[in-house]
Parts: sequence; structure tokens; C-alpha cells
Amino acid sequence: MSVMDTEKKIILTADRPSGNLHIGHYAGSLANRLRLQATGEFEMFVMIADLQALTDHAQQVDKVTSSVEELMLDYLAVGLDPNKIHFVLQSALPALYQLPMFYMNLVTQSRLERNPTVKNEIKTKGYRREVPVGFVNYPISQAADITAFGASVVPVGADQAPMLEQTREIVATFNRLYGETLVLPEALIPEHSRSRLVGIDGAGKMSKSLGNCIYIKDSAEELQRKVYQMYTDPQHIKVSDPGKVEGNVVFMYLDAFYQDKKHLAELKAQYRQGGLGDMVLKKLLFECLNELLAPMRERRAYYAQRMDEVRKFLREGTAKARTLTDQTLARVKQAMGIYQI
Ligand code: TRP
Repeated sequence: MSVMDTEKKIILTADRPSGNLHIGHYAGSLANRLRLQATGEFEMFVMIADLQALTDHAQQVDKVTSSVEELMLDYLAVGLDPNKIHFVLQSALPALYQLPMFYMNLVTQSRLERNPTVKNEIKTKGYRREVPVGFVNYPISQAADITAFGASVVPVGADQAPMLEQTREIVATFNRLYGETLVLPEALIPEHSRSRLVGIDGAGKMSKSLGNCIYIKDSAEELQRKVYQMYTDPQHIKVSDPGKVEGNVVFMYLDAFYQDKKHLAELKAQYRQGGLGDMVLKKLLFECLNELLAPMRERRAYYAQRMDEVRKFLREGTAKARTLTDQTLARVKQAMGIYQI
């Protein structure tokens, strides 16, 4: 029945190509994908969601297009393994354009507008009524992604949970109306899921538009510069002053990335008491992050010299996904009783 060689459960994850991945992506989702990859228990697809990126980049198609290969390099850099993962380009899969046409009729306008993620994004982007229809509609498109792959497991952070809820509703409605056809996906909340990492300025979450990111591809020099300019505690002027750990970006990053938790607890106590300088902590954080990123930089450089191979990974993964998603589309049309010519 399945085109996949194995009976492994299918996992789908995806990112919008609109720039490079940063260490917030690493902490929030890429590290978890590496863990899932290491189990060998799943058939994993990692999709470059260029169609979804276009829903708010219609005037900047080049930014989306030029991010595709960058994203591939970031994936390979962090250690996603082309022997274990199928890399997929969303826009090369016709079924993902066609399924939404059917699903759209199963979702009401009011339900779409109630989606908390979309509501939030509309607000932060300042769209109001001028929101592109494609943007409001992207939860339906995402439901098409998930169901086309027959993904039963979708690792999500908190901000994506409503997307999965919406997908599950569409699946339930479809299966009730047309018979058991689509796989009901489960959200997989990463066990060690860390809260959204703040930017180096401490002003909000790490985000390209705020210019407060540490990128996976950053050089050691860039990394050092960014760590050294991190927001700490403005009241902590002299080394002997007591300092605040809460809201201190350096400590938030140490919490997320520094493995020696016992040492970290001691540092926090000492900082609160006074006598521990910011520079000592920043050096420690720089070393810790550089240890993580240095092998990633190396892998990135390796693959950047072999772009033909990188493009081949994407082509081959997409070909596999094409068979799989076309098959789902055929089953959907058959279940609905669409006229076949
Ligand atoms: N909405 C996801 C994000 O912004 C990207 C995405 C598109 C996705 N299609 C998907 C995630 C399917 C999981 C499954 O990060």
C-alpha cells in the first residue's frame, strides 16, 4: 500500500526559506530532529517550505529562491544526514497545490480566522484586512503537506500546535465525509523542548527582522562579537556588584547550551552575590557556543564546495516525496468520488 520501503512511521518537519537558520532554530527544533534521526525509528522528511514562505514574500521571490540552497547547507551543517533524511522542496510537489483545493471546502472562514498562530502573525505583521488570502489560508496548505506525506508524527513547538489542531480537524472531517483515508497526525512535543530563545539584545525572541540573531553559519569572530555585545544586567557595573540572573541574556543562553548544570548553578549564585564579572561569563559562553558551531562551520564549508551533490540530495528526496504525495492525492480523489477521465 505504501510507496515507502519500510513500515516506519513518517515524520515531516519543515522550515520556510527566508534567510539562514539561527541557534534559536537549533535549540527549538534542529537538535530534536538530530535526536529523532539518531533513533533510526522513523522515515524522516525535511521540507523546504517555499510555497509557505511566498505567502508573505510575494514581492520578494528572489529572497525565497536564494534561501533554498542556504537552508540545505544549514541542514547539512547541523548534521542532518542525507543518508537518513529525505530533503524535499515543497513547490516541486504538485499534490501539495491540489489537496488544499479540496480541503478548503471543509474549513470555515471563521475557523481560519480563529487560528491563534495566524491571528498573532497577522497582528505582528500589521496586516489587518490587507492580509493576503494565501497567508490566511496557509494552515490549510500545511494540512495538505502533513496529510500528503501521511505523516503520523509532526514535531512542533508551541507556536505550531494550532496548525496541527487544524490539520487534525480537517482529517477528521474528511474521513467522516468520505471514508477513512487520511492519517491522523500526532504532535510530538520535544522532551527537552526549550522555550523560544531570546535575541542577543534580550528585547524579544531571536528573529531575522530584529537583527538579534546568532546564525549557525556565523564565523568565530562574528560569534564572539555578538556574545560580547549581549545584554546582561545594566545595574551590574562593577565586578563586585550583585547581578541579576533573570532577564540576563548570557545566563539564558548558558541555560540552553551549557551542559555542566552544576557549574552553572554555582556561577549563578556567585553572580547574584557579586564578584563575578560579565566578561568571564561571556568568554565561557563564547567557548561553549563555538564548540557547538565549529564542526557545523566545517561541514558547511565541505558541502559548499560540493553544491552539485547538495542539489542532488534535494532532487532525490523530492522525487521520493513526489511518488508518495501523488499517491495520497489519487486516494483522496478516489475516496471523494471525483470523476476520473
Ligand atoms: N509552518 C512551519 C513553520 O513556519 C513550516 C511548515 C510548512 C511545516 N509546512 C509544514 C511544518 C508541515 C511541519 C509540517 O515553521
